[in-house]
Order: sequence, then structure tokens, then C-alpha cells
Amino acid sequence: MKFHIRTYGCQMNERDSEAIGALLIKHGNTPTPREWEADLVIVNTCSVRKKAEDKALGKLGLLVAGKGDHPERIVGAMGCMVQRLRNSIFERVPGLDFAVGTHSLSNLPNVVDLVTRKNTPVIDAGDGKEECPDVLSIHEQCAVTAFVNILLGCDRRCSYCVVPSVRGQEWSRPAEHILEEIREMVSSGVREVTLLGQSVMSYGRRNEVWPNAHASPRGFKEPLARLLEAVNTIQGIERIRFTSGHPSGCTPELVQAMAELPAVCGHLHLPLQSGSDRILKMMRRGYTVDDYRRAAARLRKTIPGIALTTDVIVGFPSESAEDFDMTRKIMAEISFDNSFIFKYSSRPNTAAAEWNDTVSPEEKLIRNKNLLAEQNKRSTAINRELIGTVVEVLATGCSKRNPSRWSGRTRTNKIVVFEPPEGIRPGTTLKVDIERAGAQTLYGIAIPPAPQGAPAKQGTEHD
Ligand code: SAH
Ligand code: SF4
Ligand code: F3S
Repeated sequence: MKFHIRTYGCQMNERDSEAIGALLIKHGNTPTPREWEADLVIVNTCSVRKKAEDKALGKLGLLVAGKGDHPERIVGAMGCMVQRLRNSIFERVPGLDFAVGTHSLSNLPNVVDLVTRKNTPVIDAGDGKEECPDVLSIHEQCAVTAFVNILLGCDRRCSYCVVPSVRGQEWSRPAEHILEEIREMVSSGVREVTLLGQSVMSYGRRNEVWPNAHASPRGFKEPLARLLEAVNTIQGIERIRFTSGHPSGCTPELVQAMAELPAVCGHLHLPLQSGSDRILKMMRRGYTVDDYRRAAARLRKTIPGIALTTDVIVGFPSESAEDFDMTRKIMAEISFDNSFIFKYSSRPNTAAAEWNDTVSPEEKLIRNKNLLAEQNKRSTAINRELIGTVVEVLATGCSKRNPSRWSGRTRTNKIVVFEPPEGIRPGTTLKVDIERAGAQTLYGIAIPPAPQGAPAKQGTEHD
């Protein structure tokens, strides 16, 4: 079959879609970027805000309605919404052929097979499965950058968040499984990995991930610092990222590991959510604004030039104009390189759903636009400071907007668009002289590599 996967939601969903793609290819199917010609269309869904669910439901509805023109086409849903809605997803999308939850990815080919043979709707939401299954470790070929799951689920239970109920309890993959997966990818061309976990700094805190006999060469004690250290030694890896962070996880040891390990990038996504201690407490985030400030200061002091990005929710129940103002102030104080601003969306079966959604949609929109405008100005100013400097870029391919140009990212995770030099390939690391900068993108000219015979430029060191 020709298949097409449409993905909504976070990087974890992107990774799941990639794994499912690789699994379907292994079972003899072919991916297509053109949805209209696919025999199997899968929508990977997200439940984090109502809007995300509405989008996925709308898409599924259109696909099912389009079956008039493609009677043989199979339309399926996977991901967090399946986990949340279970069987009732078939009521929301009449005509849907199958639904596979977040704990049942590896069963997807069987489900598709069953649908084809029996011609009845099938669901696998993972009920009755053991508590901590390992995840699919297969990847599609040929990428330069890759996501790797290290921590499944989430135990934090922030009061607004649906993720713990759709992704289950925290479980950390054994370090050796992760290292094996990364070694294999690096040997087939991957240069950058992003280690994924909803609260990634909790890696290895709930279950053992290192064999007793394993000692850290640098004497690290914490599981994530030890993992970063081990990934850093893999020959050929250039960049390591991990996301999302939490202020309580920014321990002296982790920050030291980030600073010392050459492949670990100088960027951290550290969701703030609010600048008001009262709201943070209601959100059950487990830190105060001061705790956050201290974490950011430690990162900045130990890792000069580190870029910090964040998530913020506006219009949380009872958020007053004063609370909102505190968020504005701390965002200006920390001066984030970039931030994602979300309007609070009440989610069923979360603690915050019990509280009145006091901030009107109009006011949420105003607060959202306000923070976005301030962030845009700040990002532009921060990025403009890079004009005239030379940054290291890992080239990923041609630019989406202008195929005659190429794009890639800096170690601080900023997008750079540049004129490609001769002989460039995805995965080439090059120096780019920055000439222009906007809020989201840097533009520049690639500096030709040193001629042969000249001293080699200093590359990433590994020990
Ligand atoms: N695990 C990550 C975040 C996962 S969800 C973390 O805690 O850092 C991504 C972002 O969506 C969150 O950081 C939060 O800002 C936002 N979000 C989550 N639930 C939301 C809700 N009910 N309404 C609005 N935004 C929400
Ligand atoms: Fe949700 Fe909080 Fe877990 Fe992030 S840390 S996934 S916001 S419960
Ligand atoms: Fe959405 Fe699920 Fe990610 S709810 S944010 S896709 S974990």
C-alpha cells in the first residue's frame, strides 16, 4: 500500500509518526508525500488543547468524507486522542477504519491487516498491556537529525495537562537500548539527536537505567548527565539536544555536563508557564518564579551563550491583569530567545477543569498577542546581535520557501538560511557569516571550507 501520515502535536508525536512510517515500510508499504494518492492515510492526533483536537477531528472527517472518491482507502487515527477518547472516537468520526493508541504503536500493521481482511473498524488502545513496554526503536533512513525517546509518560500531573493521562506513567528506557539505537543511526548518517521526554530531566529517576557495574568516566551520578556523557562518546555524533526541561532538573551536575560535553548543544527549552507564583502553584508546576530565575542564572553562568526558549500559558483560571503583568516582566528579565505562547484550554479530567475558566476568550487573545509581539521584538533584537558574526550550521537541506537556498540550524537551535556552497550535502557542517536576521530566521553567506593542505578547522572533540 501507499501510505501517508499527517502529524499534529509535539515532537513525541513526530517521533511516533516516523517510527510507524519505518514499520510500515518494513512491512512492504511505500510512503507518499501526496495524501490524495495514498491507500492508507493515518492522522497522528494531539489532545493538549481543544483546538488541536478540533483540527485532527476536522481532518479525519474530511478524509472519511473523501472516501466517496477513494472507496478502497483506509483512514486511521493514532496518538493521544485515541488514548483519551478510546471507542468514542468512532462516534466522533463515523466511518473511521481504525484507531491505535500511544501504547500500541507496534501493533499498527496488524490492525491495518485486520481492517483489510475483516472490513470492520478496529481499535487498540493498549488496554491490558504490561505497564512499561519499550518503544519502537526503528527509524527511517537518510535523516541528518533524529528524535530518540528516552523517557515515556509523565508523572508530574500539572493541573491543566492531559498528557499524563494519555501517555501514562513515567518509564525510562535502559541507557544501553538508547545508546544502541543512536549508534546505529549515527553509523547511517545521523549527526544530531534530540533526546525526548515530557519532563526529560526525570530520566532514570523512577526506574533503573544503568547496570550496577557501569561507572561514569567523569564521575557523574545523575542518570541524565551519565547518558549525555555516554552519547557524547559515540563516534560521529556532532550534536546532542534534549527536551523538555524543568527548573528542578537543572542541577549543578547536569549543567556542568552540558557545559563540558562538546557535543551537547548550547540550547535548552525550559517551560516557564507563568510568572506569577500564585498561578504556578495552582498549575502544580513545583517551582516558584525565583526557582526558575536561579535555574536560568546557573545555565547562563556555566554555559556562556546558551539560548533559552520557553512555553507560556495565558488566561489560566483566575489569572488577573497583575498575574499576567508578572509573566510579562519575568519574560523580559530572562530575555528568552524564543517562546511558544498558548491560550489556556480546559481539558476534561484534569484538575484545572474543575475551576472556572474565568478569563474570556477575547482577553486570552489580547494577552497572547501582547506576549507574542514582545517576544518578536526581543527575538529580533537578540538575533540581530549575531549579524557580522560567524555561526556553525548543520545543513539539513534546501529551504522550504526558496529551494535555491539551503537551511540548517545553529548549535543554539536557530534556523539559518544561506546560499549553498558547491558540494554541500545534508549533514555538512559549515560556517555561515550572518548578514540579516528576523525573529525566527538568520540569513547569511557560507564561508568556503579551508583549502586542502591548510590546517583543518577545529571540529567537535570527543573523548
Ligand atoms: N512536557 C512539556 C510540555 C508538554 S505540552 C513540559 O511540561 O514542559 C506543551 C505545552 O503546551 C506546555 O508546556 C504548555 O505550555 C502547553 N499546554 C499544556 N496543556 C495546556 C492547556 N490545557 N492549555 C493551554 N496550553 C497547554
Ligand atoms: Fe504536562 Fe506538566 Fe507533564 Fe509537561 S510536565 S507533560 S505540562 S504534566
Ligand atoms: Fe499532544 Fe500528546 Fe504531545 S497530547 S503535546 S501529542 S504528548
